[in-house]
Amino acid sequence: MAILPLQASAAADPLKLTAEAVTRQLLPKSEGTTAMLGFNGSMPGPELRLKRGEQISIDVENRLEEGTAVHWHGIRLENRMDGVPVLTQDLINPGDSKTYSFAPPDAGTYWYHSHYISQEQVARGMMGPLIVEDDMPPDVDHDITVVLSDWIINEDGSLSDDFTDMHSVAHAGYMGNFARAFLSQAEVKEGDRVRFRIINAATNRIFPLTVAGVAGSVVALDGMALGQPRGLSDLTLAPAQRADLIVDITGPVSFDMHSRQGSYRLADVAVSGSNTDRKPEPIAPLAAPNLPVPGDPTQHLTLTMMGGAMGGRHGGANIWSFNDVSDLPDAPFASMKRGETVRITLANDTAFPHGIHLHGHHFYELAADGSLGDLRDTTLVAAGESRDVLCVFDNPGRWLIHCHMLSHAIGGMRTWVDVA
Ligand code: C2O
Ligand code: CU
Repeated sequence: MAILPLQASAAADPLKLTAEAVTRQLLPKSEGTTAMLGFNGSMPGPELRLKRGEQISIDVENRLEEGTAVHWHGIRLENRMDGVPVLTQDLINPGDSKTYSFAPPDAGTYWYHSHYISQEQVARGMMGPLIVEDDMPPDVDHDITVVLSDWIINEDGSLSDDFTDMHSVAHAGYMGNFARAFLSQAEVKEGDRVRFRIINAATNRIFPLTVAGVAGSVVALDGMALGQPRGLSDLTLAPAQRADLIVDITGPVSFDMHSRQGSYRLADVAVSGSNTDRKPEPIAPLAAPNLPVPGDPTQHLTLTMMGGAMGGRHGGANIWSFNDVSDLPDAPFASMKRGETVRITLANDTAFPHGIHLHGHHFYELAADGSLGDLRDTTLVAAGESRDVLCVFDNPGRWLIHCHMLSHAIGGMRTWVDVA
């Protein structure tokens, strides 16, 4: 079992993340090790635990042989701290450092990852969990982070270095032949109440998940508390999505990915002994997020996902597009006045699912009748379907919108909005 390292929390000021080459034993011990990239000697990078509303600084030092930049996924931070080369900052060149500072406004489960040639750097391991602690944490015995990813690993344990194979870019994207869940703690007792914070850090894979040996609820999605906890069936995470569960341990715990081909074990959690102190109490919702209340939409925009292998005329690096525009255009897709509520129809006119991510904001998924659904920063739109979202654009700056299937993002499915 791979244990996630924990970075002594925000007390250390500034926090330090060193981007560097790391070696991991992903395959069984008797087989080869895997040369990867990571932070502070580990992959995934160390778990950062921050306090809501508390200003922190994180020094990122680049000890790679190429440039990088770090994005704090899902955090509603100042635009110049968003970590997007060209749009919000210059690259951190080899040997250089950059200090990011922000005060995370919302409690919840987030993550950080490279945002430079991210299809390759994230696939090589440049990602880690970022937890913003609740003001009043729920009553649980353990708070365990679960990071999911997958990789194409050769027989000798080395990572395949074909991250941009055109066939996969034009289809579902880079898909690993090996997937794992890394847990911050690998042992619990029967009867314990546990919060699991699950993060899909894979570059392209959608994880349909089953968690065995537990009874409980989903309490948050993409960091944002649900108004009412929800059942554990249909637990599906697109790349970059998160789900927080609060569950009682009822037996041997395992995380499995299920598919038509059957079930694939991602991690086991050892259960030893039993917790007899805990009284069975209903699982309460987490504190409601404090986000701006949407007004009547002043713009209704449509962003149509186009392209792919079945999509016709795009080719090369321009396989995918939004509204027929591939890659980052010079002009924003839309301009918003700060505070404006905007409705966006995300229409998937392709033969593949896409997980669409907006930087710097959360948005509501809208039900067919227009009522407010879940708050998300990444929404999964199935092939041929469309989803409306509603967003209060209250964070000034230049914000990316892209498919978080990172093969599709490098294939051209990205654009940006300007909020002034
Ligand atoms: Cu998770 Cu543009 O990023
Ligand atoms: Cu996509």
